[in-house]
Amino acid sequence: MKPPEETPRAAPQLSFQLGSFKMKNPVMLASGVVGVTLDILPRVAGAGAGAMVTKSISIEPREGYRNPTVVEVEGGYVNAIGLSNPGLEAFVKDLVTLKEKPIPLVVSLFGSEPDEFGHMVSTLESTPVDCYEINLSCPHVEKVGLEVGQDPEAVSQITKSAKKSSSRPVLVKVSPNIADIVEIASAAADAGADGITAVNTARAMVIDIETGRPILSNKVGGLSGPAVKPIAVRCVYDISRKVDIPVIGCGGITSWRDAVEFMLAGASAVQVGSAVAYKGLDVFKEIVQGIQKYLDRHGLKSIGELVGRSHSYQ
Ligand SMILES: Cc1cc2nc3c(=O)[nH]c(=O)nc-3n(C[C@H](O)[C@H](O)[C@H](O)COP(=O)(O)O)c2cc1C
Repeated sequence: MKPPEETPRAAPQLSFQLGSFKMKNPVMLASGVVGVTLDILPRVAGAGAGAMVTKSISIEPREGYRNPTVVEVEGGYVNAIGLSNPGLEAFVKDLVTLKEKPIPLVVSLFGSEPDEFGHMVSTLESTPVDCYEINLSCPHVEKVGLEVGQDPEAVSQITKSAKKSSSRPVLVKVSPNIADIVEIASAAADAGADGITAVNTARAMVIDIETGRPILSNKVGGLSGPAVKPIAVRCVYDISRKVDIPVIGCGGITSWRDAVEFMLAGASAVQVGSAVAYKGLDVFKEIVQGIQKYLDRHGLKSIGELVGRSHSYQ
């Protein structure tokens, strides 16, 4: 008698959805690392990313700091670019002429007052944006980013203002530099945020020992790359255990192993930044295929079965 034929197992589900924002895989390009231009979107898509987050945009254009703005250190980079961007009007012009949008686009926004976020979102509503990410975590620019992102009341007001004007999901990106990251993530969630991106860079500094001079023109910058990964994993773990909206993990992911670790910590999706500088855009394919094989090897049907698995260990 012939042995019964085994039915081939379906490929594991890699898709990630947050309301109207749908990604075919959970690996996004993080904000800022490839600069401001949207021309790179087809290449990012072709390289296998599930979505792309833009550089952070403000209402008015900003020049940013003078050089040096980025310095390589062991395990990553310290940068203080100064949130340079062309401003909302020029960005929208660029966005509406975008010919192709092969993957979803997340627009990152920064400002100081809640009304500024409402205004930026309202302006962007008529453009092909799929999701907003509110940058409340840049560690090196006065009166924006982390300076507002460490006050739960400001986080709440800003999130409400963005949500009120938005028909798309809103992510709030938090900083590892706050004493109680769960309090800030909870303030965003209670104000209606659809997801939390954790984390931005960690405040850092590099000094030239021959001259005694801080290397970055702004002196203080933000650390990214593998050196921040364990801090970021801890942040994702803490937030996802207490806050009931999806967490997007970010910080030092350079391989599929890192991405899986973030998912075990509680991330539903991940963002990759500095690794693009190490490995080029091919890093996306490598990470997506690695996650797929890992799920297969562990007999898991979807990313969902992986998310937060580490929480069961007391
Ligand atoms: C050169 C550079 C520019 C960045 N610009 C932004 C930005 O405009 N907005 C933002 O939210 N994060 C920005 N980031 C932070 C990244 O999006 C990411 O949160 C951080 O680098 C940690 O991830 P990584 O270790 O994979 O790079 C920037 C990071 C780098 C290295």
